[in-house]
Amino acid sequence: MPVLTADARHTVTITLNGKARTGTAHPRLLLSDFLRHELGAHGTRVGCEHGVCGACTVRIDGVAQRACLTLAVQADGRRIDTVEGLAKEDRMTALQEAFNRHHALQCGFCTAGILMSLSDYLERVPKPSEEELRDMLSGHLCRCTGYAGIVRAVMDVTGQSTETTHV
Ligand code: FES
Ligand code: FES
Repeated sequence: MPVLTADARHTVTITLNGKARTGTAHPRLLLSDFLRHELGAHGTRVGCEHGVCGACTVRIDGVAQRACLTLAVQADGRRIDTVEGLAKEDRMTALQEAFNRHHALQCGFCTAGILMSLSDYLERVPKPSEEELRDMLSGHLCRCTGYAGIVRAVMDVTGQSTETTHV
């Protein structure tokens, strides 16, 4: 484990959405701030900054994690995937299309984090029950939608249907 100097900036290289990116960070800089302020990747949102709201969720080596609970220096050498990497050649993913169809967002502040969590979750649980899905979504705060559109979008994209409209 390297010893880092508190007041020095350290070189951090990550693979961001498939491309090598390098910046520098003090040891206490959060990954969320490194992405936004050092690398200019603003798709990742910052809400509570203490692991509660889920807005900052990114995938680290494929696993959805809070970027506000990860130090930038801990991400050195890792693969980081953010919402900017989901669409390919300007084509949205099926999940993004379903969000659009089912009005699963309003202000959109929570959306990047939810999409990143779902992109990991649906690889592991391709057909979640509504109960399982709502349990997973409980790790994300959305002030606008009441979650109903989000649930409908996921049920749709996983080939299921739901009549539910309540939270
Ligand atoms: Fe990271 Fe809220 S900003 S969980
Ligand atoms: Fe506004 Fe979720 S769409 S917080």
